[in-house]
Amino acid sequence: MCGIVGYVGPRQAQDVLMHGLARLEYRGYDSAGLAVADRGRVAVAKAEGKLARLIERVDQSPLPGHAGIGHTRWATHGVPSDRNAHPHSDTTGDFVVVHNGIVENFRALRDRLEAEGVAFRSDTDSEVLAHLVARAFDGDLTEAVRRTISQAEGAYALVAMTSRQPDRIVAARMISPLVVGLGEGENFLASDIPAVLEYTREFLLVEDGEIATVTRDGATLETIAGSPVRKQPFTADWETDSVRKGGFDHFMAKEIHEQPDVISRTLGARIRPSEDGGEQVALEGLEWSDRDPAEIDRIWITACGTAYHAGLVGRVLFEQLAGIPGEVAFAHELRYGKPLFRDGSLTLAISQSGETADTVAAARLARRRGSRLLALTNVVGSSLAREADDVLYTWAGPEISVASTKAYVAMLVGESLLALELGRRRGTLSRTAERELVAELRTLPGKAARVLEDMDEVSRLADVLAGSPDAYFIGRGLDLASAMEGALKLKEISYIHAEAMPAGELKHGTLALISDGTPVVAVVTQEDVHSKAMLSLQEVKARRGLVIAVAYEDDEEIGTVSDHVLRIPRVADVFSPILAAIPLQLLAYFVARRLGRDIDQPRNLAKSVTVE
Ligand code: M6R
Repeated sequence: MCGIVGYVGPRQAQDVLMHGLARLEYRGYDSAGLAVADRGRVAVAKAEGKLARLIERVDQSPLPGHAGIGHTRWATHGVPSDRNAHPHSDTTGDFVVVHNGIVENFRALRDRLEAEGVAFRSDTDSEVLAHLVARAFDGDLTEAVRRTISQAEGAYALVAMTSRQPDRIVAARMISPLVVGLGEGENFLASDIPAVLEYTREFLLVEDGEIATVTRDGATLETIAGSPVRKQPFTADWETDSVRKGGFDHFMAKEIHEQPDVISRTLGARIRPSEDGGEQVALEGLEWSDRDPAEIDRIWITACGTAYHAGLVGRVLFEQLAGIPGEVAFAHELRYGKPLFRDGSLTLAISQSGETADTVAAARLARRRGSRLLALTNVVGSSLAREADDVLYTWAGPEISVASTKAYVAMLVGESLLALELGRRRGTLSRTAERELVAELRTLPGKAARVLEDMDEVSRLADVLAGSPDAYFIGRGLDLASAMEGALKLKEISYIHAEAMPAGELKHGTLALISDGTPVVAVVTQEDVHSKAMLSLQEVKARRGLVIAVAYEDDEEIGTVSDHVLRIPRVADVFSPILAAIPLQLLAYFVARRLGRDIDQPRNLAKSVTVE
């Protein structure tokens, strides 16, 4: 959700904060603001809308000074507007806060403060924090923040500053992510590493219940109870280029094109030569005894959005390659359901950001109920990674576009490796089968690059789809997961209504909506149900629907029932979702381009959903 950045040092804070906000805008973009301390006061500038509006404002009236905090917002309480934008101030204007997350008891706190005579100026839950910090201050901002968070309930990160102690910014973390960036004679705070990556590579992770006090000379961490916390900084070795568009018009396009490299990276050192002259999977980071894989009797997979679609693919892989039955559950359903976790179960929680509130909560629940927790995530040190017994990282690099592309493909590769590892260790996969499948995995980067070489057909098709109010996506087996992901991509960035369903389900109702020219995107890669997929497409053609198929390049039959075919190189069917994702991502991208949509920052959405 919202992005936070803070700075104390010799530079003009405004420059660092605006730079950080630009890097964080993907986190939320309905308004933005900053506050800078200077000569006994704190100046605030904020603006509804994209960061460009705030840039205009600060260009006209700069905020000089060397310490400040900034925020980019995704609304939870209160509509996007100047008054609801952060930072929020107390009634004197001496104290300001930025906040990410939700203060769950804000209503009670606000009622109490109003009864004490405080006049609120916004509709947000966050403003209570500014008033609480001001009222708790008696000369020490750290102490005031401590007193504030002992009253506020919920999952959040908070950063405060005051004109009365202008040399510092103080932050507290309750679940929502926060890091301290360490520089030479300057220090930073941020909700995400990319915000300050151009200034420092050294970071301290602020953990739940910790308070960070950041000055020009250093940063101290302590618990809510006041005990000092000492920890080693870690180095972020991300390329700064990875948070730039690198010649593409959109981050989404750049991230789609990075996928061949991402597949190679995620495979990385996880494949090693085997004694029989072939190769086998060797996963790092899994602290499994020899017996552990054999004892898994069920896999629970939990995630949201695109990561959930990755989970649908994973379920089939674990079943087919490792002989483990599984269940995929939306994290927001699982966390409030009554799942029967058992000691022998493994829960795989999947999340690009590792910060999705529902996924982290579902993962916690699984672990509490005795399931072993394995996190599949892209972000090192994320909440999910820290919660888990074992972590498998997808080495996709920072994903900036709100629509997930490369992280999805990396999740599929990670699951493939995991399924192969489990299959070998459980004895459900023969050496020959493993060797052949590993060899197939090795071909994926090259094949993904080939899909990206020929974009003419997909770009032509975008014209067709862009004129339609609806589109239907169908598939069977693993192709259904690809269809669901394709539909999500299209609606998310083009705002065209898209609905995915099993191909066999069409005739049970939705076929009534198919008429002359209705687009039906069919993913057809699974050999065992190929003839059945053809039947479904015949049904669509018989109603004059417009069939766009995603199929293997050597599938000649598909042309007989399709108006257009997006071709992918043939690969073992279990890995086809990795390649099928790419034309579907491109289709959504080109449609959204035709329609002039805000591709990297689609309306109403945010990159990581750190609230319920
Ligand atoms: O960070 P996560 O993978 O946990 O995020 C889950 C979803 O919010 C995310 O995949 C969302 O659906 C994407 N915007 C889809 O492109």
